[in-house]
This record gives sequence, C-alpha cells and structure tokens, in this order.
Amino acid sequence: HHYVAIMAGGIGSRFWPKSRTSYPKQFLDILNTGKTLIQWTYDRYKRFIPEENIYVVTSAEYAGIVKEQLPAIPTENILSEPSRKNTAPCVAYISFKLLQKDPEASLIVAPSDHMIIDIEAFEKVSKQALDFAATHQSFVTLGIKPTYPNTGYGYIQHETAAAAEDVYKVKLFTEKPKLEMAQTFLASGDFLWNAGIFIWQAKHVVKAFEQFQPEMYDLFASEKEHFNTPGEQEAIDRIYPLCSSISIDYAIMEKASNVFVIPASFGWSDLGTWNSAYDNLEKDYLGNAIAGENVMVVDASKCMISAPHEKLLVLQGLDDFIVVDTKDVLLICKKEKEQEIKEYVAEVKRNK
Ligand code: GDD
Ligand code: MG
Repeated sequence: HHYVAIMAGGIGSRFWPKSRTSYPKQFLDILNTGKTLIQWTYDRYKRFIPEENIYVVTSAEYAGIVKEQLPAIPTENILSEPSRKNTAPCVAYISFKLLQKDPEASLIVAPSDHMIIDIEAFEKVSKQALDFAATHQSFVTLGIKPTYPNTGYGYIQHETAAAAEDVYKVKLFTEKPKLEMAQTFLASGDFLWNAGIFIWQAKHVVKAFEQFQPEMYDLFASEKEHFNTPGEQEAIDRIYPLCSSISIDYAIMEKASNVFVIPASFGWSDLGTWNSAYDNLEKDYLGNAIAGENVMVVDASKCMISAPHEKLLVLQGLDDFIVVDTKDVLLICKKEKEQEIKEYVAEVKRNK
C-alpha cells in the first residue's frame, strides 16, 4: 500500500536565469552531478517504493520532459495538470485518485527538487513515517534543524515529549514567516524547518480537504467517479480552472491538528536558491563555489558562480555575489538579496 507522488510542477523562479519556466530546475543538474534533481528524487524512492506506485504530478507542459528524464515510469503514472495551481490541488488530485484505487493507500508527497545526501538514513525515516502515519491516523512531516532565519520555509514547533521513538506531536506549523518571526523562531530554539515531504494516508488527506478546503473537496468529489478511468484527464481539466491556487502548507498543514514531526538528519538541502547551491558545492580557497569549467576568478571571494561550458567567464574583485551566466541572460546579484530574484523574474520577459 505504499505510494509516492513527486511534485514537479514548480517553475523554480529563485533559480533564474538557469531555471526557466519552460525548463525549470527540477529538470536540471544544478550541481553538475550527472543526474537531474528529479532523477535523483526518483532513484531515492525506487529503493523502497514499488516502481508502479511512483507517480509524478506536473504541469501538462512538462509531461514530455518527465517521460524523457524518467523513461522507466509508466505513462499513466505521469499526471498532467492543465494549469499551475500550486501544491494543494496537486495533493488533492493524487489523494482522490489513490483512495479510489486503494482505500488503504499510504502516500509520501515529495518535492522534485531537493538534494538528500544520506539516502539510507532517508529510507529508514521514510519507512518509519509511513508506519506511524498509518497506525496513528496522522500526518507526518520531516523536520530539519534550522541554521538561519530563512523566510522561504515552513517552521514547525513540536512538543518536547516524544509520542514514539523520534516522533513528536506538532504544536504549530507556520508557513513562510516574515523575517522577524523567523528570527524569533530560530532564537527560541524549538522550531524545525519543514522539509516539504509529507507522509500520510490518502483517506486522511481527503478528509482534511473536506474539513479545511471544502470548496476544493467538492470540486474533486463531484468528479471522483472519473478517476482511474479514460475520462480522468477531462475531469481534471474541468476541475483545475475552478480550483484556487494555494500551497498544501497553507491549505492543510497550518490548520490540521493531527500532525507529527520526525527530526531528521540525512543531509537535506532544498536547493531552492543559489545560496543553497553555494552551500552544497565545494569552494576554492577564497570560498568561491564554481559550477562550470570555463571560469577564471581573480581576487574574488565567497561568490556563487555558474557559467555555461562554451563561454569563458572572468571575474575580478567581487565578494559575496551570485553570478550566473546563460546563453541569453547574465545575472549579477548580491548573495543576501537572492529572495528578490523571484520578483525580477516576474518583471522581465526573459523567463521562457
Ligand atoms: N504538480 C505541481 N503543481 N507541483 C508543484 C506546483 C504545482 O502547481 N507548484 C510547485 N510544485 C512543486 C515544486 O516543483 C516543488 O518540487 C514542490 O512542489 C514544492 O514547491 P515549492 O514552490 O518549491 O515550495 P517551497 O519551496 O516554496 O515551500 C515548500 O517546501 C519547503 C522546503 O523546501 C513548503 O512545504 C515549505 O514549508 C518547506 O519548508
Ligand atoms: Mg522549494
């Protein structure tokens, strides 16, 4: 009864200009590892989830890329969304679909763009979470020890007494707090970052939608007889335009009460931004992280540099900058301002 749904519909705007709407970061090998992020994700799960139970939910426009990058995946396991509605509709879709197929389905909902170093530890924690979620009829999240007040994450506060070995009841889930609040959370010492991986049973997720997102629940429920039939895509194409665009964190996780967290240390990185890529790359002796073979650095330090192979990039005298060159766009941005990259992308027309 174990399934995984890999969410791969995001546009990766904070990784612009390497990540583009037409080819976002989950389909890129950001760190030059030989595999793209979604390929790493798939391989991580196929160790303990039967391959026929691995699903990818993505925008219709990326379905072809998914098929190309994950040739082993059955075509019917690639679920296409007609429009980008953030992660709540995506979770509702897979949960309704699986519930109808398998009333006892236990499901891991996973991002497609993370890096995890210790895959054995990850597998162990995932199995433990699957067990706990089923036996305790609850939601399980994985928590990461925070290192700085990142405002792009969810924050989880949990009870101090364990409910089971390494499993703690969640007291508060706050998605993407303002900087001041993130600083307070960090200083208090009893918050974890939400790793963005959710473990639960399809029937409980569907129930949570009924309770906390009744409109979305009604939309999916009214079409549910079409799931797992040839009419599924048409049903989804009817539902999506009517769905509000909201992430699962705001839609369900902030509201649900039966949430638990397993603090995890398996070398997790969101790879959400250039700074997180910087943290994960090897540095030269002045602290520059360089992705690209044709880069020459003089008197520069602590820079994140990404350059295409076919072009020489020479950098002198910059400290703490992100420098990303691509065929048609050059970005030079202060490292501390990286959260703003998302905003430029909305303004510039070079996002395709
Ligand atoms: N299918 C589908 N459809 N997938 C989507 C969509 C969509 O409309 N939007 C985003 N995704 C995918 C992304 O590709 C990514 O793999 C995953 O869903 C999470 O979306 P993000 O947009 O990257 O979320 P986030 O990073 O801002 O926040 C989430 O992850 C953080 C950890 O990385 C939250 O869960 C936070 O609480 C968490 O800390
Ligand atoms: Mg993310």
